[in-house]
Amino acid sequence: MQIKRLVFRQLLLLLVVLPIASTAQTAPTVRVQHNLMPVPSSVEFYSGRLPIKDSFKVATKGHSDARFLSAIDRAMKRLQGRTGFTFDPTLATDTNTATLLIQCESPGQTIPSLSEDESYRLEVTERQAQLIAPTVVGVLRGLETLLQLVTSDQAGYFWPVVKIHDQPRFRWRGLLIDIGRHYEPPDVLKRNLDGMAAMKLNVFHWHLTEDQGFRVESKKFPRLHQMGSDGLFYTQDQVRDIIEYAAQRGIRVVPEFDIPGHSTSWLVGHPELGSAPGPYTIERRFGIFEPALDPTREEVYKFLETFLSEMASLFPDAYMHIGGDENEGKQWDRNPRIQAFMKEKGIKDNHALQAYFNQRLLKILEKNKKKMIGWDEILQPELPKNAVIHSWRGTAALAEAARKGYDGILSNGYYIDLIYPTWQHYVVDPLPADSTLTAEEAKHILGGEATMWNEYVGPETIDSRIWPRTAAIAERLWSPRSITDVDDMYRRLALVSIQLEELGLTHERNVGVILRRLARTKDIQPLELLASVVEPVKEYRRGQQRPATSLTPLSGLVDAARPDSEASRVFTRMVEGLLSDAPRFQLYSADLRATLTSWRDAEPALNTLIDASPALREARDLARDLGQMGLVGLEALSYLNSGTTPPDGWLLKATVILAEAEKVKASALEFPMLPSMRNLVTAAAELPQLKTMTPAEWKKRVITIANPPKK
Ligand code: ACM
Repeated sequence: MQIKRLVFRQLLLLLVVLPIASTAQTAPTVRVQHNLMPVPSSVEFYSGRLPIKDSFKVATKGHSDARFLSAIDRAMKRLQGRTGFTFDPTLATDTNTATLLIQCESPGQTIPSLSEDESYRLEVTERQAQLIAPTVVGVLRGLETLLQLVTSDQAGYFWPVVKIHDQPRFRWRGLLIDIGRHYEPPDVLKRNLDGMAAMKLNVFHWHLTEDQGFRVESKKFPRLHQMGSDGLFYTQDQVRDIIEYAAQRGIRVVPEFDIPGHSTSWLVGHPELGSAPGPYTIERRFGIFEPALDPTREEVYKFLETFLSEMASLFPDAYMHIGGDENEGKQWDRNPRIQAFMKEKGIKDNHALQAYFNQRLLKILEKNKKKMIGWDEILQPELPKNAVIHSWRGTAALAEAARKGYDGILSNGYYIDLIYPTWQHYVVDPLPADSTLTAEEAKHILGGEATMWNEYVGPETIDSRIWPRTAAIAERLWSPRSITDVDDMYRRLALVSIQLEELGLTHERNVGVILRRLARTKDIQPLELLASVVEPVKEYRRGQQRPATSLTPLSGLVDAARPDSEASRVFTRMVEGLLSDAPRFQLYSADLRATLTSWRDAEPALNTLIDASPALREARDLARDLGQMGLVGLEALSYLNSGTTPPDGWLLKATVILAEAEKVKASALEFPMLPSMRNLVTAAAELPQLKTMTPAEWKKRVITIANPPKK
């Protein structure tokens, strides 16, 4: 409650609407705090509004087709859902009196491509909204903006008067979903495609094969999916259905067949392709494994030619991703025949052998009129210039590829599986302002992709790992480089997150689903509080702290916890505010006290829940730490408030409590607000006279607390 009140107060402070003199327009523009994400390349607000009422009607002009009409239908249904109005679904015949006039100039490409024109213009006046786009995909992008612009107040729903000119900064804006390590049913993919479309992403990178699963039906080699997938694979009909669903939303589908490494699941049914005799079983562990295709045998290329040709006709996109990452070549090292082959051909090492393999693959792809895309590792001297480098190692590798004349996309920095907070992805730019690439080289940077590697992600939790954080990455890839305000990103992201729910995404609601199942009751407030202030551990630490295989259920507290705790961010802001100057100390101390009290009081309530549910036992130490932090935080506040020096031993006690809270937990959860807690405790211990300091002294001292001088 307190947290909400605080946020609300800050929102009120921000909600100033200032008229600005306009030079180019007759009507003056107004500064409006808008909620658009991604931010359009140009947006100007004016005073006035276009009311949205139950008489809302759409008219169209120019090109029309089934994709265009279903996009309008979907947008109207979402608008109905939000407003409660029932609209007349038939199109208006009078383009003058319709509330929304959509003018589409051409069909564009039915199978979206890298060169698709996604631009649109949106002009809302007090009389009508007009959406004008050169292609159907441009209309799709504009409709999403229009839905985000829907505003309401006591007078009802309305669109503000606005002029928007918009087009993407990068042409390749993707989301990779790894359904190899954990399978995701088609419905899960579809709701995520809807989320992608809402955020104007345009490439679904379907990582279809992994050590843990071969997930696409092959009619040519059915043992691939039959023996390599535990029965969890997509039929070719399902694949076509997903491709169509994506195309309807202006999204390309780029399939990945990761070879020669990451290929255990291929070898279960076809051990003859491997570089060691086998037999092979589906890998259940996570990591980098030895099995690799044998690059020295003609039968392997014959097999790949048949298989990749089959896939090339199934997937219409111009690009095919061949993976190529993390092959350590250990099977190659141990195979005397492979060693003899290398010697005979003068292939000096495993990198060169993989380059040879890629050359052969390239010929197969060219025969099938596909362009090759692969991870960094494929960048070898012989690689033809129309291959695309997918950089998972960093912007430097991407820039190096661009200098050499290769197109590239960035994923390093967009690894959403690493559970970093949103801002950490948001600040990563595929083409940063300080890039040393020439304008010509910079054209090779096509964009980027968020990567949802699925070690610890299943159908119930995938949405909460993708959303809402991927919306911020989508903004980085669509919006002008100058859009970098992290606080404003978070403000808009909170609103966008709710809108994404209307597409069936479960990132918000499944937190409750998991917690209720764990607690076996609907009364889960203390557990919700705990889940709201912890985050799953970052990077690859989860696997160390909570060892798991692909068979382990993804139903623990860690799976309910969000990657980017809003409650912790609010807490941090309160502590920073409290310690920033004397007047703000007063402003923030009541809210902070309420928050700390809720932590203290959660401990006994949590213990009651934990006592009743063995699956919750791993939360015991978190409950204790939360309670203790609440207690010690309240003490710190009280010393600061009264200007009293804490007694001897208090700082030591507080330090021990915080050190305990920082310890590695079997639950693989951590408290992201610990640095702020430490600042609060240090301030109390060191600054009993805080309130008597001048603002300048205060600031100087507090900056030192937050950033202690290096010893
Ligand atoms: C990768 O993360 N190995 C592409």
